[in-house]
Formats: sequence, C-alpha cells, structure tokens
Amino acid sequence: MVGIKEIGKKSVARHIMLGVLCMSCLLTTGFVSTAQAEEPIPALTSSDCIKCHAKAPKDIAEKGGAHKAKVTCIDCHAGHPPNVMKIIPQCSQCHSGKSHYELAGCLQCHSNPHTPLELNLAKNLTAPCLTCHEPQKVQLNQFKSHHSTFDCTTCHSKHGFIPECMSCHQGHTPAMVQADCKNCHKAHMPLEVTYNKDTDSKQCAGCHKEAFDLLMANKTKHHDVSCATCHKDKHKTIPHCEDCHGVPHPAGIISKFPKCGGCHNIAHDLNNVTDHAAKTTKPDVKITTPNIKPDMKSSKSNVKKK
Ligand code: HEC
Ligand code: HEC
Ligand code: HEC
Ligand code: HEC
Ligand code: HEC
Ligand code: HEC
Ligand code: HEC
Ligand code: HEC
Ligand code: HEC
Ligand code: HEC
Ligand code: HEC
Ligand code: HEC
Repeated sequence: MVGIKEIGKKSVARHIMLGVLCMSCLLTTGFVSTAQAEEPIPALTSSDCIKCHAKAPKDIAEKGGAHKAKVTCIDCHAGHPPNVMKIIPQCSQCHSGKSHYELAGCLQCHSNPHTPLELNLAKNLTAPCLTCHEPQKVQLNQFKSHHSTFDCTTCHSKHGFIPECMSCHQGHTPAMVQADCKNCHKAHMPLEVTYNKDTDSKQCAGCHKEAFDLLMANKTKHHDVSCATCHKDKHKTIPHCEDCHGVPHPAGIISKFPKCGGCHNIAHDLNNVTDHAAKTTKPDVKITTPNIKPDMKSSKSNVKKK
C-alpha cells in the first residue's frame, strides 16, 4: 500500500507522490493511458480512494451518517482528474423539493459533506432555522419580548442545544434553580407567565413580599392556601371570593353588606371572624381577640375620629 497521507491541493509533495503513484498504483486503475491503449480502462472504485485520500474515508467512516450508509464516494465523485476535472457534486443533484434545500451556501453550515450532520452554525442565524422550525418564530413574533429581538443561534449556539436560563439570568429568589424557570416561563414567550397549582408560594414571594408576609402571618385557614390556588394558572389572575365560597351568608346580610371585605378584610389578611367562637371552646384561653391589638393603621384612624 501507498503511504497514506492526505493530499493537499496546493502541496508540492502531492506532485511527487502522484508521480510515484502513477507508477505503482494508477497504472492498474486507469488514470493514465498505458502502452496498451486499446485495453478498457479499469474503473476506479470506492475502495481505491483510501490509497491516496486518508481524511475523507476516515470522516465518512466515523461520522458519515446517511452519506456513508446511502451513498458511496463515486456516487458523489464521478470520475477523477485528470480524466474528469469537475468531480465535486452539487448538493442539489440529490437534495431537492424542500424549502431547506433552496438555501444558499449549504457548506456554510454543513461544512464537511463527509460528516453532513456536523454543523457549523454562525451566531446570527434565524431565517434558515425556519425552514424546519416555524412555530418558535410565530411565538416570538406574537408574544413580543426582548427574546423576540434575538437570533435563534444567540441561544441555540449548536444545533439541538438548549441553553439554561440561568446562564444569562438569575432566579427571583436565592433558592430558585434552573428547573423552576420552566414552571412559569417559556423561552419563546417569556412574559406569558403561567404556572401549575403546586407552585410553591415562596417562588412568588421574591416579588410579592408584602402579600407573602401577610399571608404567612395570618391565622385563618387562608394561611394554608397557596398563592397559585387562588391566583390560578395565569399570572395576574385575581379571583373573586365567591368563586370558591359561593354565597356563604343569607341573602339579607349580603344585600345589606355586599362587600365581603367589609367584614373579612382582604384575602391575604383575612379577619379572624371565628376566633372568638374557636377560643371560647378552649377552657384555658382568655377571651381576647388579636384583631383589637392597635397597629399603626388603627391608631391613626382612632386619632382621626377624635
Ligand atoms: C492514486 C492516488 C489517488 C487515488 C486512488 C484517488 N485519488 Fe483523488 N486525488 C488524487 C490527487 C493527487 C488529487 C489532486 C488532483 C488535482 O488537484 O489535480 C486528487 C483529488 C481528488 C479530489 C478533489 C478534486 C477537486 O476538484 O478538488 C476528489 C474529490 C478526489 N480526489 C476524490 C477521489 C475519490 C472519490 C477517489 C476514489 C474513487 C479517489 N479520489 C482516488 C489522488 C488519488
Ligand atoms: C454526499 C456526497 C459525497 C460523498 C459520498 C463523498 N464526497 Fe467527497 N466531497 C463531496 C463534496 C461536496 C466535496 C467538496 C467539499 C468542499 O468544497 O469543501 C468533497 C470533497 C472531497 C475531496 C477534496 C477535499 C477534501 O476533503 O480533501 C476529497 C479528496 C473527497 N471528497 C474524497 C471523497 C472520498 C474518498 C469519498 C468516499 C470515502 C467521498 N469523498 C465521499 C461530496 C461527497
Ligand atoms: C449523490 C447524492 C447526494 C449528494 C450529491 C448529496 N447528498 Fe446528502 N444525502 C444523500 C442521501 C441519499 C441521503 C439520505 C437521505 C434519506 O435517507 O432520505 C443524504 C442525507 C443527507 C443529510 C442527512 C444525513 C444523515 O445522516 O441523516 C445531510 C445533512 C445531507 N445529505 C447534506 C448534503 C449536503 C450539504 C450536500 C452537498 C454538499 C449533499 N448532502 C449532497 C445523497 C446525496
Ligand atoms: C443555516 C445553516 C444551514 C444551511 C445553510 C443548510 N443547512 Fe441543511 N441542515 C441544517 C440543520 C440545522 C439541519 C438539521 C440537522 C439535524 O437534524 O441534526 C439540516 C439538515 C439537513 C438535511 C437532513 C434533514 C432533512 O430535512 O433532509 C439535509 C439533507 C440538508 N440539511 C441539506 C442541505 C442542503 C442541500 C443545503 C443547501 C441547499 C443545506 N442543507 C443548507 C442547517 C443548514
Ligand atoms: C433541516 C431541518 C432543520 C433545520 C434547518 C434546523 N433544524 Fe433544529 N431540529 C431538526 C430536527 C429534525 C430536530 C429533532 C431531532 C433532534 O433532536 O436532533 C431538531 C431539533 C432542534 C432543537 C432541539 C429540540 C429538542 O426538543 O431538544 C433545537 C433547539 C433546534 N432544533 C434548533 C434549531 C435552530 C436554532 C436552527 C437554525 C440554526 C435549526 N434548529 C435548524 C431539524 C432542523
Ligand atoms: C443567551 C442569553 C439568554 C438566555 C439563554 C435567556 N435569556 Fe432571557 N433575556 C436575555 C436578555 C439579554 C434579556 C433582555 C435584558 C433583560 O431583561 O435582562 C432577556 C429578557 C428576559 C425576560 C424579560 C423579557 C422582556 O421583554 O422584558 C424574561 C422574562 C426572560 N428573559 C426569561 C428567560 C427565561 C425564562 C429563559 C430560559 C427559558 C431565558 N430568559 C433565557 C438573555 C437570555
Ligand atoms: C432566549 C433564548 C432563545 C431564543 C432566542 C430561541 N430559543 Fe429556542 N429554546 C430556548 C430554550 C431555553 C428552549 C427550551 C424550552 C423552553 O424553555 O421553553 C428552547 C426550545 C426550542 C426548541 C424545542 C421545541 C420547543 O419549542 O420547546 C426548538 C425547536 C427551538 N427552541 C428553536 C428555536 C428557533 C427556531 C429560534 C429562533 C426563531 C429559537 N429557538 C430562539 C431558548 C431560545
Ligand atoms: C413562580 C413563577 C416564576 C418562576 C418559577 C420564575 N419566574 Fe421569572 N418571572 C415571573 C413573573 C410573574 C415575572 C414578571 C412578568 C411580568 O413582569 O409581567 C417574571 C419575570 C422574569 C424576568 C424579567 C425581569 C424581571 O426580573 O422582572 C426574567 C429575566 C425572569 N423572570 C427569569 C426567570 C428565571 C431565569 C427563572 C428560573 C430561575 C424564573 N424567571 C423563574 C415568574 C416566575
Ligand atoms: C419576577 C417578579 C414576579 C414574580 C416571581 C411574580 N410576580 Fe406577580 N407581579 C409582578 C409584577 C411586576 C406585577 C405587576 C404589578 C403592577 O401592575 O403593579 C405583578 C402582578 C401580579 C398580580 C396582579 C396585581 C394587580 O393588581 O392586578 C397578581 C395577582 C400576582 N402578580 C400574583 C403572583 C403570583 C401568584 C405569583 C407566583 C405564582 C407571582 N405573582 C409571581 C411580578 C412578579
Ligand atoms: C381559590 C379559592 C378561594 C378564594 C378565591 C377565597 N377563599 Fe376563602 N377559603 C378558601 C379555602 C380553601 C379555605 C379553607 C376552607 C377549609 O379549610 O374549610 C377558605 C377559608 C375562608 C374563611 C374561613 C377562615 C377560617 O379560618 O375559618 C373565610 C372567612 C374566607 N375563606 C373568606 C374569603 C374571602 C372574604 C375571600 C375573598 C376576599 C376568599 N375567602 C377568597 C379558598 C378561597
Ligand atoms: C385565598 C386566596 C388567596 C391567596 C391564598 C392569595 N391571594 Fe392574592 N389575592 C386574592 C384576592 C381575592 C385578591 C384581591 C384583593 C382582595 O379582595 O383580597 C388578591 C390580590 C393579590 C394581589 C394584588 C393586590 C395586592 O395585594 O398587591 C397580589 C399581587 C396577590 N394577590 C399576590 C398573592 C401572592 C403572592 C400570594 C401568595 C403569597 C397570594 N396572593 C395568595 C386571593 C388570594
Ligand atoms: C356583615 C359581615 C359579613 C359579610 C359582609 C360577609 N361575611 Fe362572611 N362571615 C361573617 C362572620 C361573622 C362569619 C363567622 C360566623 C360564621 O361562621 O357564620 C363569616 C364566615 C364566613 C365564612 C366561613 C364559613 C364557615 O363555614 O366556616 C366564609 C367562607 C365567608 N364568611 C365568606 C364570605 C364571603 C365570600 C362574603 C362576601 C360574599 C362574606 N363572607 C361576607 C361575616 C360577614
């Protein structure tokens, strides 16, 4: 066998090598006409290529994919210099009929046809991705956010690579981890915040400290109800008391006092209206209600009344 070195196009060594090869190898494979010109030139087969070309056969063997399984060297390279000079195929010889195959510069991304799925993606690609992934662009367009201004490969720097949100952002609380983000956000429409009913109230607390603190301090059964149970599914949803409680009091009372909050205060800081009854069932407890403890608000209003 010949010393197998890759033959660079501009290499001087190649000429020397070619000279040697002409004698040793090509004579038998028909590159050069021999004395017996009337003999048919034996065809070059795909198994001959490796005698002079190391890299292409190696690339194909390792990562050729369908270009290894479905085609051979000579399906793509018909003939060989000097007999046939133009032996680099056009991709369109075999790939046509999809918008993806109308793109310019196939080799810009598929930089090595012998390893067709090893892609070299530039940092500013969007349009070519849409030949296969339309829905993501639709989402980015329909739900405008800063992400809508990015190219696809700003985030997907390699094909199929999914970036972590936290490679560019921080969580809303120190305890928040990457896996939490997708409970509330989708990358292509990040401001359309939705979440499931099991969402831990602590995740809301990072931005709604006041609501969280009130609820945690509250002594009624609302204390045990999570934010996501009341503010269901979609961010900024505000429920009505009646959604969960229906009409809990006789119509007469409701018509005189139409606002639940008039007696119960707000949902996060629900008045402990049943506290008196609850405590009187326990013998040791003094009958005082926590709500009469004057805080800043109530003392102010007391002053005004005077
Ligand atoms: C005896 C050695 C030898 C064998 C066998 C050989 N080649 Fe080559 N090949 C060369 C040399 C030398 C060149 C450079 C020729 C030139 O640029 O003029 C070359 C160039 C090429 C090129 C580049 C052509 C271009 O236009 O840039 C391709 C493609 C190629 N060979 C494919 C093959 C394939 C496919 C086979 C097997 C079917 C094969 N070769 C077998 C020696 C060989
Ligand atoms: C699917 C088509 C296809 C197959 C199969 C294929 N090639 Fe190629 N090959 C190409 C194309 C296209 C180029 C030009 C690449 C470029 O311009 O960068 C090329 C370039 C080459 C070159 C010159 C540049 C280089 O990489 O050194 C050689 C040599 C070569 N091929 C050899 C082979 C051999 C040997 C085989 C089989 C083991 C093979 N090719 C199989 C399409 C193919
Ligand atoms: C001689 C025909 C031929 C040529 C020329 C050719 N291909 Fe292919 N290619 C195929 C076949 C056949 C398949 C397998 C397709 C299938 O199974 O549907 C394939 C598959 C592929 C794949 C998928 C590989 C995989 O493993 O799934 C890519 C990517 C590809 N080709 C890119 C190219 C590019 C880029 C060019 C031009 C540089 C090119 N092809 C030139 C025949 C060719
Ligand atoms: C902007 C980058 C880019 C350009 C330009 C590009 N491709 Fe692709 N191509 C891709 C990506 C990404 C894939 C998906 C690879 C995968 O599925 O792993 C792909 C897949 C393929 C496939 C296999 C899947 C399929 O749908 O058939 C073929 C064949 C293919 N390309 C051929 C071509 C041809 C031919 C051209 C030029 C007309 C071309 N590509 C231009 C990026 C590109
Ligand atoms: C030729 C069609 C084609 C092109 C062009 C293409 N893709 Fe893909 N892409 C696919 C296919 C098929 C899959 C699913 C198979 C897989 O996981 O590799 C995929 C998977 C993905 C995934 C991973 C999906 C997951 O669920 O993990 C991302 C992200 C992606 N592509 C982004 C891109 C970006 C960004 C571009 C533009 C640079 C692009 N694709 C161009 C065909 C394509
Ligand atoms: C490659 C970096 C990068 C990645 C990855 C990334 N983002 Fe962003 N994102 C940004 C930049 C830059 C901005 C605009 C500046 C800012 O608001 O911080 C932004 C803005 C946002 C915004 C505000 C949008 C607006 O228009 O105000 C949200 C929400 C967001 N990102 C969530 C996410 C989530 C969730 C993920 C993961 C699914 C993620 N981001 C992944 C870079 C990134
Ligand atoms: C801000 C970064 C960012 C940008 C910009 C971005 N993606 Fe994504 N993409 C992601 C993340 C993160 C995921 C994982 C799913 C998620 O978190 O919603 C993803 C998922 C995907 C998937 C898998 C299927 C899916 O929808 O979940 C595809 C395909 C995809 N992106 C393609 C694209 C395309 C095409 C573009 C350009 C039009 C694009 N992406 C722009 C970050 C981004
Ligand atoms: C419990 C739900 C929830 C979780 C979990 C969550 N976010 Fe958010 N995120 C939101 C809400 C709600 C907004 C405010 C949206 C608005 O302003 O309309 C937001 C806004 C953002 C913004 C815009 C800038 C800002 O801080 O206001 C970024 C960036 C962001 N989130 C990234 C992330 C990342 C990264 C993660 C994962 C570590 C994450 N988010 C987890 C609900 C959540
Ligand atoms: C990244 C910060 C952030 C996170 C996390 C967050 N929110 Fe918000 N939330 C906001 C902002 C900003 C507003 C708009 C405030 C405004 O309009 O005054 C808002 C508004 C709201 C509103 C509507 C207020 C009104 O007056 O209409 C509700 C309800 C709400 N959030 C509930 C939640 C719940 C429940 C969670 C957890 C699942 C949560 N938020 C997580 C930032 C956040
Ligand atoms: C998403 C459903 C939901 C909404 C909206 C809601 N609540 Fe409740 N509420 C509950 C649950 C669950 C309980 C506990 C019931 C139990 O454990 O028996 C509760 C308990 C109560 C109690 C009894 C407290 C106790 O400790 O005994 C009162 C009073 C009450 N809610 C009033 C209200 C008022 C007033 C509003 C509107 C400002 C409201 N609720 C909104 C779900 C809700
Ligand atoms: C029992 C149901 C319930 C729970 C639990 C609940 N909320 Fe609310 N929330 C409401 C109702 C009802 C309103 C409308 C004001 C009112 O009538 O009390 C409201 C109003 C809000 C508002 C807008 C007004 C304001 O106070 O700023 C925000 C923001 C909010 N809630 C966030 C949260 C967060 C964060 C949590 C968890 C820590 C939470 N809520 C838990 C029912 C609830
Ligand atoms: C006039 C004052 C007043 C108004 C207005 C009022 N409530 Fe009440 N509510 C009370 C009192 C006092 C109790 C505790 C005594 C009891 O259990 O009947 C109570 C109890 C409740 C309970 C707990 C019932 C149970 O079985 O534990 C719920 C739930 C409730 N109210 C919801 C509401 C809702 C929703 C509204 C508005 C539609 C409302 N209330 C309006 C005074 C009021």
